[in-house]
Amino acid sequence: MARYSSKKVEEIKQSADIVDVISEFVSLQQAGKNMKGLCPFHNEKTPSFYVSKERQLFNCFGCGEKGDVIKFISKYKHLSYPESLKYLSDKYGIEPDDKDDYGYHNNHERSYRINELTKQFFSMQLLNLDTGKIALDYLKKRGLDEQTLNYFEVGYAPKSGNLLWENLSKDFHDFELINLGLVQKREDEYYDIFRNRIMFPINDEFGKTIAFSGRIFNNEENTSKYVNSTQTDVFTKSDVLYNLDKAIPFINQSKRLVLMEGFFDVISAFTADVKEAVCSMGTALTLNQARLIKKYTDNVVVCYDGDDAGLRAAYKALVLLGQVGLDVKVAVMPDKMDPDDYIKKYSKESFRNILKNNTLDQYDFVYEVIVKKKDLKIPTEIEKAKIALFEYLDKTASSTIREIYLKKFSNDTSVNYEDILADYHQYQVENARRQNIQRRKESITNNNKVIKKEKRAVELATKQIIYYYSIYSESRELINKYLSFIKIDSQRFNNILYSLTALFRNNVDINEMQIKIDFPDLTEDEFKLFRKKPKSIFNEIELMECLETLMINKYEHDVERFSEEMKKHPDSKQILQEYNNKIIEYRKNIESIRRKRNVKKTTNSF
Ligand code: UTP
Ligand code: MN
Repeated sequence: MARYSSKKVEEIKQSADIVDVISEFVSLQQAGKNMKGLCPFHNEKTPSFYVSKERQLFNCFGCGEKGDVIKFISKYKHLSYPESLKYLSDKYGIEPDDKDDYGYHNNHERSYRINELTKQFFSMQLLNLDTGKIALDYLKKRGLDEQTLNYFEVGYAPKSGNLLWENLSKDFHDFELINLGLVQKREDEYYDIFRNRIMFPINDEFGKTIAFSGRIFNNEENTSKYVNSTQTDVFTKSDVLYNLDKAIPFINQSKRLVLMEGFFDVISAFTADVKEAVCSMGTALTLNQARLIKKYTDNVVVCYDGDDAGLRAAYKALVLLGQVGLDVKVAVMPDKMDPDDYIKKYSKESFRNILKNNTLDQYDFVYEVIVKKKDLKIPTEIEKAKIALFEYLDKTASSTIREIYLKKFSNDTSVNYEDILADYHQYQVENARRQNIQRRKESITNNNKVIKKEKRAVELATKQIIYYYSIYSESRELINKYLSFIKIDSQRFNNILYSLTALFRNNVDINEMQIKIDFPDLTEDEFKLFRKKPKSIFNEIELMECLETLMINKYEHDVERFSEEMKKHPDSKQILQEYNNKIIEYRKNIESIRRKRNVKKTTNSF
């Protein structure tokens, strides 16, 4: 569907004169300053439908329908708001601008633009301005030249309070900068989030900058080494791999991806001519990241830090990478070094060589590095090693692989192979049981969440309907029509709504006074429902949605009721058949309301 900025909407309203538009469908006569005719929205014999050329509005004093030219078309032609705009803009030859109020096709594009400018700002600070000199010196000391820094678009966030904000707030709203995690507001002042840090821009796989990570460089205390952008509309850390966008051509060339832990590892690898490296930015690899890798290659070399934490993280990553069907090898850095340390201490060639000729196959890695690290002479250590091995084999291995490694383990520990096998089967059974319990727990909490959400929706819809009934006279006939098809859970609100309908049937005007008389015991909150001023013209679509929510509520209640009834008559075939048919019918009704709703949602969205 085409997009219209509010400026465009104004332009359409200017061109589409309401009298011209309505005259095509309703015959109008002059009546003083206004025009009048027979209302197209209800049956009448004497005209009570007025159109004001001056105010560009229509108003029916018979049925209460009123609004501007867009509302008229929407009502008359049964079109959604954007469809009505399209109808009018086509008729009057106005091109949609396909942009929102900020001139962008969607908000993401605006976020990308802000991040792009921020990246340029940081880069300028590092490479071209005196302010960034200390940071640049630090990076050079770590062996990075300006060419490399340029390639990775590394930058510097200046020390002083709000330079970035000053630069961007001319062109962007403060809330946008805050939402992107770049700026923070304290006591009416704006501050940059990133200050005095080396800045790594984080891009999505298509090269759009979506976030930043900033590293301290002067051993500041009481602050974390890296600060990352918070989660935003365009950034979820666990879905992104640093440097993937730039690595893609090299992944294609080398037919593999090298997975690392940190920014400096990736950048050092690049200087060693390993340009197909990406990193998961410290945190444990996620399934989404594994899937992202699988989009681009089938072969991964895991090259994590050589310390215990790194080895454990590699072990976990292997399971996920295996799960998405990747062929995985592991390069282990010696002496607890990370790849960046290794390249500096030894050489670029030596690093390349490990990746090329000295990687371990995943099972060998688990066996040699995780299992064999334990002292296989001490029984309790054997037990721990055994569990680690079982766990991995159970998650990933074929029976052949299992046999090979269990036999190896039997050899290395001098424990009977048959006994190990028996333990393994025992482990599998227990593990399956544990997983079942876990799954059941999860499904119960999920169900409870859904039920709570539905209850809340029913309550909101109920309040909304009472509000409509008391404020908009034009809603009352419609609500009355649906009364026997809806279910309101709260007895209290049920009574209130039925009392309101009684007032209406007896032609008593529904107003604040009357409500005070009829409901002397209303709480303050309940009374608010009646006192709120109408915020806009009557929105029939919104009201219909509330009614539908309560209709679904009724059908669901009926399904429940008949299911209970069926349990009471387990032997009567006839009753069971009859009730079952009813249940099927209710379910169908629920489905059809939901389906109708979804269709509406998709046509209304723009
Ligand atoms: P490391 O602590 O190993 O840092 O964290 P590093 O990359 O080796 O950096 P140097 O060599 O000490 O300068 C690995 C990665 O974990 C993420 C960063 O992506 C980092 O590169 N990390 C680490 C954070 O996000 N926050 C932190 O506080 C620490
Ligand atoms: Mn590290």
